[in-house]
Amino acid sequence: MNNSAIGVFDSGLGGLTCVKELNKLIPNENIIYFGDTARIPYGTRSRETIMEYACQDIEFIKKHDVKLIIAACGTVSSVMGMGKTSAGDIPFTGVLLPAAQTACSVTRNGKIGVIGTAATIRSGAYGKAIRGIRPEVSVIGNSCPLFVPLVENGFTERDNPVTKLVVEQYLAPIKKEGVDTLILGCTHYPIIRDAIADYMGEKVTIISSGEEVAKFAFKLLMGKDMLSNREEQGTNTYYTSDSAELFEENALAFLGNSLNGEVHKVGIDELISAANQ
Ligand code: DGL
Repeated sequence: MNNSAIGVFDSGLGGLTCVKELNKLIPNENIIYFGDTARIPYGTRSRETIMEYACQDIEFIKKHDVKLIIAACGTVSSVMGMGKTSAGDIPFTGVLLPAAQTACSVTRNGKIGVIGTAATIRSGAYGKAIRGIRPEVSVIGNSCPLFVPLVENGFTERDNPVTKLVVEQYLAPIKKEGVDTLILGCTHYPIIRDAIADYMGEKVTIISSGEEVAKFAFKLLMGKDMLSNREEQGTNTYYTSDSAELFEENALAFLGNSLNGEVHKVGIDELISAANQ
C-alpha cells in the first residue's frame, strides 16, 4: 500500500485524458498534474528541446511526493523511447508501450495505423514498440499537425466541417491501407475521437493512448502492491506554466464535469531551477 500521489505530465491539456481514466479506475488516488501550456506544442520541436522540457517536467513532478510518474504525452514518450529517464528510483511510464500492447492484442488483420505529432511520427518509436511485440504487424503512420490546434481552439464537434476535412486529409492514406486498428498516439486526439471514428468506420478499433496508459498504471501499481488504501475520494492538484484561469476553463473539455482540485501556476524559471538542483 502506498498513499503518495501519481504524477502525470503533458505539454498541455492532452494528458488530462489519462487523468480522467485514472479518476474512473482508481478514484481514491491523489494526482499531481503538470501541463506545460506556456510551451505547447512540443510536437513541432527538435528532439533536444523536447528532451530538455521533458527533463524539467519530470524534475518538477519529482518535487512532490509521487509513487509513479506518467508521461501522458505521445511526443515525450516517443522521443524518450523506452530507455532510461531522469525519474530515478520512481517508477516511470510513457504512453508508448501501453498503447502498442493493446493495439497488438486487438488487431485481427495485422495492420495498425498510428497518428501523432510530427516529432512522434518522425521518431518511429511506435513502429519499433509494435514490432518488438509482434514483428509481423505492419504499421502505417501519419503526423497530424493541425489536430492539436483544432482541439485547443474548440473545433471538436463531430460534425464540424473544418475538422471533418482535416481528418479526411490526414487519415485517407491510413484508411487506404485497410488498417483495422488506429492508435491515437497523441493524448489530445481523443477529444476529436468521434470525427476520427466516423471517418475510419465502425470496423476500425480506436485506441486512446491516454486511456491505455491509465489502465497500465493501475495494473502496474496493483502488481507492486502500491495502490492507495484511502477510503475517501482522492484529489487532483494541477500545475500549469500559463494562466491557471485558462487552464481551468479549457480542462473541462477533457475531464467532463469537474476538475476535482485546484489549479496553480508555475513559472518557467521555477521549472528550469527544479531541473538544475
Ligand atoms: N499532448 C501532446 C502529445 O501527446 C501533443 C501536443 C504537443 O504537440 O505538444 O503528443
